[in-house]
Amino acid sequence: MPKVVILPGDGIGPEVTAAAVEVLREVAPDVNFEEHAIGGGAYDQYGDPLPQITRDALADADAVLLGTVGGAQNSPWNLLPRHLRPESGLLALRKLLGCYANLRPVRVQPGLEHLSPLKPELARGVDILIVRELLGGVYFDQDRKIEGDTAYNTMRYTTAEVERVAKVAFWAAEQRRGRVTSVDKANVLEVSELWRRDVTALRDRDYRNIHLNHEYVDSVAMLIVSDPSRYDVIVTENLFGDILSDLAAVIPGSLGLMPSASLGDGAGLFEPIHGSAPDIAGKGIANPAAAIMSAGMLLRHGLKRSDAANQIDRAVALALREHPTPDLGGKADTRTFTRAVLNAMGSPSVG
Ligand code: NAD
Ligand code: IPM
Ligand code: MN
Repeated sequence: MPKVVILPGDGIGPEVTAAAVEVLREVAPDVNFEEHAIGGGAYDQYGDPLPQITRDALADADAVLLGTVGGAQNSPWNLLPRHLRPESGLLALRKLLGCYANLRPVRVQPGLEHLSPLKPELARGVDILIVRELLGGVYFDQDRKIEGDTAYNTMRYTTAEVERVAKVAFWAAEQRRGRVTSVDKANVLEVSELWRRDVTALRDRDYRNIHLNHEYVDSVAMLIVSDPSRYDVIVTENLFGDILSDLAAVIPGSLGLMPSASLGDGAGLFEPIHGSAPDIAGKGIANPAAAIMSAGMLLRHGLKRSDAANQIDRAVALALREHPTPDLGGKADTRTFTRAVLNAMGSPSVG
């Protein structure tokens, strides 16, 4: 029996994760779920945002489903030493699992163009995969400090780190439309110069069937929302990928429509890209679609069950037609939307 560890976390995390687990149980009744603490709640309970009991449970997990971590801007958690803050628990989890490639699909399903604030002709058919490097760059470099009136972080990458994530991007492009856009700031940063050199060399060596181009991150920030259909696979470093993917959420219409899969050395980690949404937490109105679609990615990439994953994607698209949540201009609460997904399960595909 596959073992899936559930880490609901903080804010809307438990609300959207409960919805995702309900859907998972429906399509994969043989899976064994084990729930554990992470984030601010874990700090409150154990004094550690990634406590040992959670780490132990991960050791033999086949996949991990995460909700969200973190508090509001004025949360006392933000005053803790950095290593004890909720977000540090999430970063430690990614590191522990060796998840260096974060797949963030941006898709506008047929018939759901109206949920996008973009003109329908711009939103229609958009299908982008952002591959975000997840274990390097300014997030993890230990050459960092705040002291007096000076602070610094270091953006550092090695060829090995660039190549392993670029391989995932090229592999994904091979199953898609065969195009990769590598995003950097090579006109200013040495680290981007190395990134660009290594991605190009890898393409020339092992992926000559892939069309590769390079664009600057500032320009991509404009083009991704004004002409999104120009992109197939985007590969970029950690911080650029974080920012571009929240921006790309505008295309389908909400952060609540952005799932992700983090893949690497061991068990995969599956999580919506949005945060704990303190402004709506506890109200029962969070959009669980990103969490449910992340459960779909867990089935596809973590447990190799594509049929069940496709079933979830179809059901979510149907539910979004009839019962959009408030973030998409609708009225459905989390419960109503989740029930709509469950009802749509097994329905014929969206036409
Ligand atoms: P956020 O993503 O939590 O919220 C941004 C806006 O989007 C809010 O208005 C929120 O209500 C809305 N939103 C997000 N997800 C939604 C959903 N599923 N349904 C409906 N509306 C949704 O970003 P933030 O406010 O900057 O961050 C809040 C906290 O979350 C911070 O502590 C931050 O560090 C943390 N965070 C965690 C993760 C994660 O766990 N992976 C990701 C991002 C931010
Ligand atoms: C995300 C989040 C995290 C990140 C934070 C909460 C550490 O914004 O998953 O996108 O920056 O990676
Ligand atoms: Mn983010």
